[in-house]
Amino acid sequence: MSVIPIVLDCDPGHDDAMAIILAAYNPKIKLLGISTVSGNGAIEKVTQNALRVCALAKINVPVAQGSGVSLLGAAEAATDIHGESALDGADLPAPTFELQKMTGVELIGKLVRESSEKVTLVATGPLTNIALFLKLYPELVTNVEQIVFMGGSASRGNRTPYAEFNIWMDPEATDVVLKSGLPLTMCGLDVTHQALVTKEVFGELEAMGTELSKKIIGLMKFFAKTYDEVFEMPNPPLHDPVAIAVLIDATVVQSKFVNVECELKGEFTRGATVVDIFDREGRKKNATVALNLDAPKFWSMMLDAVRAAGQA
Ligand code: RIB
Ligand code: CA
Repeated sequence: MSVIPIVLDCDPGHDDAMAIILAAYNPKIKLLGISTVSGNGAIEKVTQNALRVCALAKINVPVAQGSGVSLLGAAEAATDIHGESALDGADLPAPTFELQKMTGVELIGKLVRESSEKVTLVATGPLTNIALFLKLYPELVTNVEQIVFMGGSASRGNRTPYAEFNIWMDPEATDVVLKSGLPLTMCGLDVTHQALVTKEVFGELEAMGTELSKKIIGLMKFFAKTYDEVFEMPNPPLHDPVAIAVLIDATVVQSKFVNVECELKGEFTRGATVVDIFDREGRKKNATVALNLDAPKFWSMMLDAVRAAGQA
């Protein structure tokens, strides 16, 4: 079984936290390191959360703090969904190791440069760090296998009517990634809204009975409450682990290779991903867009990782 080396760029965030656990505990993935980006919360908060998730799940990989603002200098926190700490719902342990003494982008560069195999970059937050990496380390792009990102949508948005949050936070960074020429896999809301934390999932977590599963239940209950309040979705979508799951087993999704552009100017649509599903515009195809999820297969991977982490 070939193991896939990845760097995970994230903004923990409840679903990012679960993506970290899946990346660290699935045997097909080699998590080389974690870089953080502001999004679900301010950069200091999401970075502390990344360290605390590592402490909670006994994960020991390099973690570095990345960009606190978008390429154009914007910042916003999704406290309405993730809470004041950006990861409300459970008391998490204090960090067990220090941050790397480098930026998140420098960590991505270091890990890609030092890897003897091509590295897959997985982004589950705004694409700022990924875009900066591509611009600052052009000589390293040949050692990148592909970029997988949770973001965008072939239909409607969630931060604005047409823009998904990660993309909306940094449309210019998204444009850099979409024009990079690297193989791209987009896991947008179309597919992630099928990864729902249902009562059956809660039942599986309760049956585990580990300290870790109890903390995750607390986090997921908070996530469910806010998602219901904001989006009238009683079963919250666990977006980010889908971007890891597609690497573990590509059959977990049905995808289509199409052209994707990011709207940078639209008065009402800035940050929208324009996904040309039926190739109506004839633009160059640049991304494999996941559209349907095999939810039982996804949850089997996710819950196996939680089980393994709980016994670590
Ligand atoms: O729109 C959902 C995405 O925005 C997820 O990655 C979530 O963690 C937030 O970052
Ligand atoms: Ca995220």
